[in-house]
Amino acid sequence: MASSSLGSAQIRLGGFSALEVPSSRRISLTPVSRVRFRVSCSAAKPEPDLSVNVNGLQMPNPFVIGSGPPGTNYTVMKRAFDEGWGAVIAKTVSLEADKVINVTPRYARLRAGANGSAKGQIIGWENIELISDRPLETMLKEFKQLKEEYPDRILIASIMEEYNKAAWEELIDRVEQTGIDAIEVNFSCPHGMPERKMGAAVGQDCALLEEVCGWVNAKATVPVWAKMTPNITDIREPARVALRSGCEGIAAINTIMSVMGINLTTLRPEPCVEGYSTPGGYSSKAVHPIALGKVMNIAKMMEEEFNDKDYSLSGIGGVETGGDAAEFILLGANTVQVCTGVMMHGYGLVKKLCTELQDFMKLQDFTSIEDFRGASLEYFTTHTDLVRRQKEAIELRKAKKQGLQSDKDWTGDGFVKETESMVSN
Ligand SMILES: Cc1cc2nc3c(=O)[nH]c(=O)nc-3n(C[C@H](O)[C@H](O)[C@H](O)COP(=O)(O)O)c2cc1C
Repeated sequence: MASSSLGSAQIRLGGFSALEVPSSRRISLTPVSRVRFRVSCSAAKPEPDLSVNVNGLQMPNPFVIGSGPPGTNYTVMKRAFDEGWGAVIAKTVSLEADKVINVTPRYARLRAGANGSAKGQIIGWENIELISDRPLETMLKEFKQLKEEYPDRILIASIMEEYNKAAWEELIDRVEQTGIDAIEVNFSCPHGMPERKMGAAVGQDCALLEEVCGWVNAKATVPVWAKMTPNITDIREPARVALRSGCEGIAAINTIMSVMGINLTTLRPEPCVEGYSTPGGYSSKAVHPIALGKVMNIAKMMEEEFNDKDYSLSGIGGVETGGDAAEFILLGANTVQVCTGVMMHGYGLVKKLCTELQDFMKLQDFTSIEDFRGASLEYFTTHTDLVRRQKEAIELRKAKKQGLQSDKDWTGDGFVKETESMVSN
């Protein structure tokens, strides 16, 4: 995480208590502010700049296709670039795709409203999909073609392998030969792959993680992001291990282990495959607050322990609006990934995300992403500190109620109230 940029956000907001709003951001209804608003509109301010540079990777905006169905093949990744996504992370690949056998149906949705309601808004999504089942050779050919056609756009390979140094080295070598710009290591898939000691099985075991990160970083020549599983007590521990072992960035979160629901007619769990199911990974809007919590914890840890280098953080989970993305950035994320949102709304979603993020920036007078990245982190503290702050605030309010501090404080408008504040009965 670039320490200088977080610092500038802090300077910008520094010195204000959690309840105060900096004057430049206050919304005032006085005629003066209305005139100022009109003047600033007619002065045709340039649009806020959404571009980001992350670990040396230049992106037109911070919106990245998260690894999954939206990055499964050439056609859909090309579509993502054409629609304007800042970067694409392809579906996770491994050396032996023939070991990856998917089932159908493999998705189940949660709607707001009664169990089984077909009408409510979709807020949760469970999948039991594995990593890419397409031959590695085919995926590599498509990466190469995309990089030839879009040399200035950022393509990131997502990789996963068994606990075998030679296999990791071969996979890294082969994906790098296609010209991809970075690697995201999937240490986080919660279903199917852990049975082969892959994905979350590594991400949940810090000793294994350290060893595998060591192999990966000794081999890779492009930036490496470690994708974290939320299915762990303290996500800061694997994130710390990954950064100490040489990764340039952390991506969080992958899906949350879940059981979507039980069909109350058949008594069978969803998604139901030949009458049976298996726990899967939960994503979409419902996981957004959990993802924010994990990203906040990682960002604070990075700020405290890894402030010396340009480490990056990619926020993932339930992003469907520019506001959702702004929240991740306010918590220190450099980029924001979207997977289920694209499955529900299509690739054109990026245009809405960019417009909404720019609207937020205009409202707050932010001109660049670095202007506000990490700006909300300083408002998190311990519960003990909240109690102390509240006690102090109550004492201050009480002191104010107990009349004027000095005769010079009498005012004309508040005179009667001021008199009453000093009456005892
Ligand atoms: C159907 C589906 C397949 C996924 N496949 C992968 C994958 O192959 N590799 C990976 O790292 N994450 C995978 N993910 C996880 C997403 O990249 C993302 O971390 C998670 O879904 C949370 O973000 P979202 O709410 O925007 O979907 C998948 C998610 C879904 C819904």
